[in-house]
Formats: sequence, C-alpha cells, structure tokens
Amino acid sequence: MITEKLQDAINYQINRELFSEYYYLSMASYFNATGLSGFENFFLVQVEEERFHAMKMYRFLNEKGGRVALQAIEAPKTEFKSPQEVFQLAYDHEKLVSGLINDLMDLAISENDHAARNFLNWFVEEQVEEEASMETILNKLKLVNGEGHGLLMLDAELAQRVFTPPAK
Ligand code: FEO
Repeated sequence: MITEKLQDAINYQINRELFSEYYYLSMASYFNATGLSGFENFFLVQVEEERFHAMKMYRFLNEKGGRVALQAIEAPKTEFKSPQEVFQLAYDHEKLVSGLINDLMDLAISENDHAARNFLNWFVEEQVEEEASMETILNKLKLVNGEGHGLLMLDAELAQRVFTPPAK
C-alpha cells in the first residue's frame, strides 16, 4: 500500500522524468540541426536514461498498489544559442530534479514509508551522477570557449556514449 500523498508525489515525479526526456530530446534535435552528431548522441542516450527513470517509478508505484495517472507534459524550449547554453540549462535542470527527489524523500520519511525510502535512495545516488555528467561537459565547453577544434574533439568523445540500462 501507499498513501495518497506519496502516490500523487510519485505521479508528479513520473511527469517530471517524462518532461526531462522531452527536454533532452529537444536538445538532441538542436544538435542534429547544428551538425554536431556526437552531442546529439549524448542527448539521445540521456533521453533513454530519463525514460528509464520514469519507468522505474511507474513499476514501483504499481507494485505498491498505487495508480499511475499521467499528466500533461509541457512543451520544452526548442531554440538554443550555443552548446554551452544547452549544457548550462541541462545542468540547471538536473539540479532542479535533485531538489524534487529530495522533496520526495522527505515525504517518504514523513509518511513513514520505508519501502519508498529504500527505493528513492537509488534516485538520490543517480542524481549525483546526473549533475556531474552535465557539469563536466559544461566545464569542458567553457575551457574550449565552446568552439573550434576543442568543440569537435568533444563532439567525437560524446559520440561514444551508449545507454546501458542498470541491472534494476
Ligand atoms: Fe531523471 Fe536526469 O534525472
């Protein structure tokens, strides 16, 4: 069983993970249009990650006897000024998501739901990686001023990223 409050909060988080998927797909599309296929690949893999996060929450809520209720997903930003701007926004977004996961954990604690706490621990750790991955690339972009040979080298590096679903 799960309390209605926690059920509603997880449904909201499913919506935020699906929005993240949508947002990153929009960023992938920007990089496709600018011809930076490695950067595009990075965000297409990120899209898979976000779908995985949403589905993990979907499965948990169902297993707990809750009811998944999907909500509308707003349109993401579609125009970006530069790769650096994209990564700044992606980094800011991940920090925001970390805050939402913390709020969800606070609620699981106040609702005394140990299973939910245990489940959410995975997301707490995952957010450390999510923020770090965006921040690392943002810092590299700053180092190369977002242009020239450095940008192309970074594009080649990001072309190597593959999606590996976690075991659980
Ligand atoms: Fe689902 Fe990127 O956090």
